[in-house]
Amino acid sequence: MPDLSVEELLDLDRRHVWHPYGPMPGRQEPLVVESASDVRLLLADGSGELVDGMSSWWSAIHGYNHPVLNDAVRDQLGRMSHVMFGGLTHEPAVRLAKRLVDISPEGLEHVFLADSGSVSVEVAVKMCLQHWRSLGRPGKQRLLTWRGGYHGDTWQPMSVCDPEGGMHELWQGVLQRQVFADPPPVAYEESYADQLRELIERHADELAAVIVEPVVQGAGGMRFHSPAYLRVLREACDAHDVLLVFDEIATGFGRTGTLFAAEHAGVTPDVMCVGKALTGGYMTMAATLCTSRVADGISRGEVPVLAHGPTFMGNPLAAAVACASIDLLLGQDWQTEVKRIEAGLREGLAPAAELPGVRDVRVLGAIGVVQLNHEVDMKAATAAAVREGVWLRPFRDLVYTMPPYVTSDADVARIARAVCAAAREG
Ligand SMILES: Cc1ncc(COP(=O)(O)O)c(C=O)c1O
Repeated sequence: MPDLSVEELLDLDRRHVWHPYGPMPGRQEPLVVESASDVRLLLADGSGELVDGMSSWWSAIHGYNHPVLNDAVRDQLGRMSHVMFGGLTHEPAVRLAKRLVDISPEGLEHVFLADSGSVSVEVAVKMCLQHWRSLGRPGKQRLLTWRGGYHGDTWQPMSVCDPEGGMHELWQGVLQRQVFADPPPVAYEESYADQLRELIERHADELAAVIVEPVVQGAGGMRFHSPAYLRVLREACDAHDVLLVFDEIATGFGRTGTLFAAEHAGVTPDVMCVGKALTGGYMTMAATLCTSRVADGISRGEVPVLAHGPTFMGNPLAAAVACASIDLLLGQDWQTEVKRIEAGLREGLAPAAELPGVRDVRVLGAIGVVQLNHEVDMKAATAAAVREGVWLRPFRDLVYTMPPYVTSDADVARIARAVCAAAREG
């Protein structure tokens, strides 16, 4: 096919290509990206570059076209891009698993490499249900979570997303009925901790696990909560034979100021999911980690295997770039970079608090959020950000940013100006 003009490309895109959460044929006109480098997206229509305030849905923590990550992919490509993982193994996957065990909370020992965040959550749920089934307690098959969460778009993750007002409301009555607590308050409240304890105790016989996003609820509403609730969950789960799953797909790899958000509470979950920034945003890969207790439980069952095996499990290219991304992150003073971005966002987003229609402004680590008191006009808000030279993707009542950690102070200030403009005009 000859090179397409931007107009031809957009026309074919609209007619044939599904976009996330979109209708068919498409109604929105996406921007066409020609290339990306450092923190900038170069647009194909000749209108110039945009500073990326989204890190491609929170994954590209080192920015784009990074020489170290490019080399890792190139080097691996010269050896093999893929081999099946059943009956075969290879160094990138083994190195990655060992690296994840070393840097994750103490006690997580075993790693299942999955091909997306949602699949890693499916695997986490399967691990928990199978653990109890193997131990002769097949009745433990429900999950408990708090409202306001998001865990992905495949079936089990959908069942623990916020059941109201979210993207999966359509499927209530079809999805597995899980147990929901109220959304976690920002600050610690004993009465809310009691609600968690009471629900876990009451449903203990049917609960396989509690699953939550620790400290930050992402796509369910960009809400922050006290890490102390994670300790409450740990204690209540231990007391009532319920497993604890942390979904660190959005929070992992430094986003909240600690390497994993679990560290804010000093808690080790039984199962933990990571994804997104795992490969520095280069390739799709996620992982489900579990403790030896969970693995032993599964391995003692009538069917002593975890029956899950994606075709592209352990993909060498993704594993190699994930190792390189982790080394790159840990080889620098990333805490200082995240704190620098946090300070820049606090300063730059402060004026948003004075804008009409703004309900809340909050910042944690390299996450900045402006919450409106109405549904955002996505088209107007996005256009306002683009006029400031910044790419943002607001949703519901939220205009927010999660920039790459390599974003300069000047670009952080620019992103903050764009968030304020989007909040004003959206
Ligand atoms: C906390 C959390 N869990 C799971 C997912 C799903 O990951 P993926 O989109 O890679 O399937 C996401 C994606 O936004 C997420 O933020």
